[in-house]
This record gives sequence, C-alpha cells and structure tokens, in this order.
Amino acid sequence: MSNSVSICVIGSGYVGLVAAVCFAEMGHRVVCVDNDEAKIKTLREGGVPIFEDHLPQMLARHRNRAVEFTSDLASAVERCEAIFIAVGTPQGDTGAADLSYVEAVVSEIARHIDSYKVIVEKSTVPVYTNEWISRVLHRHGIDNKSFDVVSNPEFLREGTAVIDFLHPDRIVVGANSSRAADVLRRIYAPLATGSYYEQPGAFPGMRSGANPAPLLVTSAQSAEIIKHASNAFLALKISFINAVANLAESVDADIEDISLGMGLDTRIGPRFLRAGIGYGGSCFPKDVAAFHWVAQQQGVDFKLLQEIRNINETQREIFYNKVLSALWTLRGKRLAALGLAFKGNTDDIRDSPSIEVIKRLIDAGAFITAYDPAAMERCKGVLPPSEKMRYAADLYEAAKDADAVLILTDWKEFAEIDLVRLNRQVRFPIVIDGRNLYKPQQMQDHGFTYVSVGRPASYHALQGKPRGSAS
Ligand code: UDX
Repeated sequence: MSNSVSICVIGSGYVGLVAAVCFAEMGHRVVCVDNDEAKIKTLREGGVPIFEDHLPQMLARHRNRAVEFTSDLASAVERCEAIFIAVGTPQGDTGAADLSYVEAVVSEIARHIDSYKVIVEKSTVPVYTNEWISRVLHRHGIDNKSFDVVSNPEFLREGTAVIDFLHPDRIVVGANSSRAADVLRRIYAPLATGSYYEQPGAFPGMRSGANPAPLLVTSAQSAEIIKHASNAFLALKISFINAVANLAESVDADIEDISLGMGLDTRIGPRFLRAGIGYGGSCFPKDVAAFHWVAQQQGVDFKLLQEIRNINETQREIFYNKVLSALWTLRGKRLAALGLAFKGNTDDIRDSPSIEVIKRLIDAGAFITAYDPAAMERCKGVLPPSEKMRYAADLYEAAKDADAVLILTDWKEFAEIDLVRLNRQVRFPIVIDGRNLYKPQQMQDHGFTYVSVGRPASYHALQGKPRGSAS
C-alpha cells in the first residue's frame, strides 16, 4: 500500500501554505484551497505571497505537481482523505478567538462529504473547538461514521517556517479515535520514522534518520491546550525577562549576563530570554488573550496570563520613555527607525511593537525615516509615506541627519552596522536599541551615546548624561 495520503489544506496563509508544500515534500498529494482567487492565481503562476526562507524553492519543486492550488473547495474535499483547516482565527473584541472562518469552512466541508474524512484543526483554536466542529457536521446531517476531528497544532515560527515544519521539536496529534490517529501517523511517518531525512535532496535541519521527530498522540482537548499553553509559556518567558530587565536597569546590572546565567540552567534553557521591546506578531498577543479567555470561560482564575500581557504592553511604553528621556523633547526631532517587522527575517508587521512605538513618536511630533529590509511595502499600507513618515533605501540613508537612531527589529543587518559610517551620517550620535544588538562599550568606543534594555546606558563624553534621565 502506498504511504501517500491525499490531503486538502484549506487556507494559504503562513501555516496553510507552508503545511501544503511540506506535505508535498513528504510525498503526499496535496490540494491547497483558498477563496481568495487572486492569491490562487499568483500561486499557480509561480508567485510567492509571503517572505519565507526556502519557500520559493519548495514551491518551485512541487507547484502544479504534488501540490495544486484551487478555489474549488467542493472538489478538493471530495478527492481527499484528510482535510486540514488552516484559516485565520483572529482576536475578537473580548480577547476570544473569532472562529467564524472555521465555522464557515466546516459548513462548506459538510456539504461535500461523500466518504470517511479526517478533519484536522491546524489553526490555533480554543479547547473544545473539535466538539463544535463535530456538532456543526451533525447539524448538516453527517453521521459519526463519516468523519473524525483531530487537533494537530502547528508550532512553526515565521522566518524559519519550512525548517520548523520539517524538523519539528514534536508533532502533536490530538485524536479521540484510533482510526483518525492512524491517518495522521501515516501523514507524518516520513518525519516520525526519519525516512524523509535520508532521502536525497531533503532539506537539512536538526532531525535525522537516527533522530526523527517524536510524535505524541493525545486527546483532542489536550492537543488544543498544548498549543495555547506552549505559546503562553514562551510569551511568559519573554515578559519575565523583560520585567527582570527593568529591575536590572535600576540597579546597574546587565540583563544579557543575567539571561546567560539563567539560561545555563538546563531546567530554564537559554531560548526566549532575550529582553527587548516586547513580543508581537500574529500569534503571541492573540493566543495569550485567547487562552486567558478560555480559562475565564471555564471559571479558572489564570491571572498570570493577564500579567504577561500587561508587562508586554508596558515594555513598549518604557522604550518610548527612553527615547523621550534621551532627547528631552520630541517635537521636530528627526529619528531613524531601523526595523518595522515584528521580528527579524520576516516582512510581517502584524502587532509589531516597532510600528506602535513609531506611531506614538509621530503623535508626539517627531519626524521618522524608517528602513526595514523586507517590511517597508507592507508598512506603507498602515503608515503611508508623508512628511512625518519617510522610507529610506538603506539604514545609512535613514540615519542621515538623525537626532537619534532607534533599533526596533532584530534583523541581522542591524547587528552588523558599520558604526564609523553610521556616526558620520547622524546629526547626534545617539542610538536607542530596543533589541540589545550591541555591547555598550563597543558603542561608546565608536562615539555613541547608547541606551538599551536592562543595561546601564553608556554616555559619550561630549553628549553628557541628561539630568533626570530614566537610568
Ligand atoms: C510564535 C511561536 O514561536 C511559534 O511556535 C508559533 O507557532 C507562532 O508564534 P512567531 O510569532 O513566528 O512564532 O515568532 P517568535 O520567533 O516566536 O517571536 C515572537 C515574538 O517574540 C517576536 O516579536 C520576537 O521579537 C519576540 N521575542 C522572541 C523576544 O522579544 N524575545 C525572545 O527571546 C524571543
């Protein structure tokens, strides 16, 4: 029997598109469905709608062969054994995830089920969504024998999505039936047995034939909670280190040394302990809020989740105040903003701390010249070019005649600035770094006043330390 499974992936966003091409890479036949006709046309014609390492090569390898793109959901459902739902679950007004796209897709699937199907939740959804999906199918007259619902959360990060998918820390399958669990085992067999990693042309990463990806089978409810709890825990680590950074700053300690010292404890681990201007993106803010809402609905008083969010919001405010205290007043000041994306290596600006800080600075009367290696086009949609918001071709152009340079996103390029050249460009050599990309001494040696997060600010002699500054 062939191990290839016919898979339909509904939604061609980050998760859907990456899952679709990676399933094709793993040897399955995939149909990727989206109701956005323009996007489907782009994908069919060889366009790559998102900025993501390895995705262009993967699409070139599999497009219109192992993976096809269509807006015809009916025929895709009829042809496929497993149907992955990877549509958006945006944050609603209450903090709860808005599941209307999921419900609409399930109703549409229900109209076209003609044989046993495994319906897989890939979108991040609250616990018990699997039950709601079953109820919607029952309402459409589909009986239990014709489907199973499985939760298979995705843990990929933007920027490293393809490698994260193919070389995962773990694969979680939440299935309340063994028949459905077996279909998912077949789908993930190339990663879970390690056969994929031994095949010629496999994308290299941390997994290998000898060290394949662990596959954990749980109940559907447990899998749903694993996803929310994992994201909330990572957000907790970031908020924790940011709160420690604020303490470190007030006693002249160094958060980079503290993170290192804490992270060497294998029970804590070094990752997600980078202090900065707080987390952003399409997942952490939304998922922490949604998880909090889920707990409240169940009568569980999970206040810690609210505190994670409070610290994160305060972190942006603290950064804004650093700019203010370094410059005294903001009206008319020219500021170079390096970075618009919510983190490096992506063009995604959703819930980007950088953009929130820039908006506040503009409101306070500053003139911004921004540069980002990938996110400028997207950013122009929310901050159109104007007298107060200019876009530069590179970081040195952005820094020209600036009263201060702000580092807002952790792009590699911003960690490798030619500091001599930068100093020649600016009006005043002040760098306010929200990502701790430099050592204070190094900046001081290059003649900069350098303000960062959770470390003593270093003042260049000519600049002097402003009275009443925060540090
Ligand atoms: C995250 C999860 O990591 C992933 O497992 C999940 O599937 C989706 O959400 P992503 O949003 O792509 O992935 O980005 P991630 O690399 O996790 O960073 C999230 C935010 O936290 C970024 O704003 C980043 O700058 C910030 N961050 C991360 C820190 O401020 N400090 C850190 O130490 C790590």
